[in-house]
Amino acid sequence: MKDNIVRPAFHITGQQGWINDPNGLVKFKGEYHVFFQHYSSSVYWGPMHWGHVKSRDLLKWQHLPVAICPDEQDDGCFSGTAIVWKDKLWLMYTSFKENGGGENIRQLQAIASSDDGVHFTKHGIVIGEKDLPPEYSPCDFRDPKVFRRGEIFYCLVAARRKQGRGRLLLFSSEDLFKWNFERDVLGTDCGGIMTECPDYVESLGLLTYCEQFQPAQVDKHLNIHSTFYRLGELGLGTGKSKFGESDIIDYGFDFYASQIFAEVPVMIGWLSMWDRTVPYDKYGFSGMLTVPRKISVKDGRLWQAPLYNGKKAAESCALELTDNATVGVIELSVEKLKSLTLKLRVGDGKQTVITATKDGLVFDRSRSGEPITGKENDEYSLAGIRKMPLDDAATHKITVVFDWFSVEVFADGRALSSVICPDLSADGISLSVCADSCIYTRYDTSEFMEVK
Ligand code: FRU
Repeated sequence: MKDNIVRPAFHITGQQGWINDPNGLVKFKGEYHVFFQHYSSSVYWGPMHWGHVKSRDLLKWQHLPVAICPDEQDDGCFSGTAIVWKDKLWLMYTSFKENGGGENIRQLQAIASSDDGVHFTKHGIVIGEKDLPPEYSPCDFRDPKVFRRGEIFYCLVAARRKQGRGRLLLFSSEDLFKWNFERDVLGTDCGGIMTECPDYVESLGLLTYCEQFQPAQVDKHLNIHSTFYRLGELGLGTGKSKFGESDIIDYGFDFYASQIFAEVPVMIGWLSMWDRTVPYDKYGFSGMLTVPRKISVKDGRLWQAPLYNGKKAAESCALELTDNATVGVIELSVEKLKSLTLKLRVGDGKQTVITATKDGLVFDRSRSGEPITGKENDEYSLAGIRKMPLDDAATHKITVVFDWFSVEVFADGRALSSVICPDLSADGISLSVCADSCIYTRYDTSEFMEVK
C-alpha cells in the first residue's frame, strides 16, 4: 500500500486502487458481508475482481482477501449477488469474456461458493448463451440478482435486446446450477441503452435497477446513468409483474448500482458515477460505497435513513454558528423552516454549500475544491448543482454525512449523494438559519465507524 494514501474515514473503499458497484450484500453466519467490483492495481477500471469486507454491526468493516478474480475461465468477474444455502455462501456473478471485443464479447452468469465466507471456489457458467432467448444479446447480459422463494431460486438478469434496449429477464432454478428462462419482467425497453444491476425485495415490493445513457430529463433525473426504483410485485406466483412509475433513488451526482441485503432492509450504493473525473485518485484510490441506509416504503415512496454511530461533538440551538470538522455527521432539526444555508469543508476560498427553503434543498459543489466534470451538459450539472424536494412539513430533520471526499444529505426520507474533492485542511462549517428554531448536533464518527 502507498504511504501517502488517504482513504475515506468511514466509507467502504478498496485498500488501494479502483472500486465500483457493491456486490453480494449478505448476512452469513452472523456477519454482514459486502463485496465490490475491484481492481487494486490501478485507480482506473480494469479486470474485475470481487473485493470483500465484513462487519458485525454494519458500521465497522474489516477488509478480507479478494473473493473471486479473473482466471482461465474469464477476463472479469462482473457484478452479482450472494445467497446462503446449505450452510454455504454462494456468489452469482457475470463471467465476462473479451474474445477480441465487439460482438464477440460474452457476459454469462456463473457461480462460486464458500464454506467459511472467505475462500471461494468458482464453479463456472450456469446461465449460458444457450439459456438466453435468441432475441437478447449475450454481449450485454449481466448482473444476476439471485433470491429464493420457497424451494425455488429466482434470478433477475439485465439483458439488451438485439434490436432494442435494456430489459430485465427472470430465470428460475431448483439447485442454482440448472436455470430456465421464465420471462421478460417489465416487457418494455428501458429509457437508456442498457439496464444494469437489478435488485428486488419481495417484502417491500421494491424493484431497483440502473439505466445507462438515458439523456437528462430536468425535474426527473439529471445523471445520464441513474438508479431507479419501482414499487409493485414481480408476480412470482401469477407469472405477471405489476409495477408503478419509476423514480430515482438518489438526487445527487454520484450514486449508482445499489444493492439491498436480503436479511435486513439496508441498502448500499456506489458513491461514484461513470464518466466523471475523479480528482481525488491522486491519493491512490478511486470509488467508495455509501454509508448503509435503512430503507422502508411509506406514503407510496421509498424512505432512506443513514446508519451511523458517533460521539456527540457539538450541539447548539443558535441560528447562526460556526464549527470545524473534516468528517462526521451533522443533524439539523428545524421547526418552521424559511431558509437555511449550511457550508461544509470551508477553507482557502472553497466551500460545499447546502441551502434549503420550503421549496426544496439545493446542493452546490461548484466551489467544493478541485473540479469534477462529467458527460452531463444540462445547466444544473454544468453549474455543479443538484436539487431535492422537501415535504411540506412543520419540522424537518436534515442529516448530512460527510467524509474526506463525499457528502450525503438525507431529508424527509430522500437522499442526495455526491463526491467532492476539497483540500484536506478545509474543515470550516457555518450554519445560518431562518426558522422558528433549529437544533444543530454534530457527531464525530471517525472513532466509531473507521474502516479497518
Ligand atoms: C455497473 C456495471 C455492471 C457491471 C459492472 C462492471 O456499474 O457496469 O453492469 O457488471 O459495472 O464492473
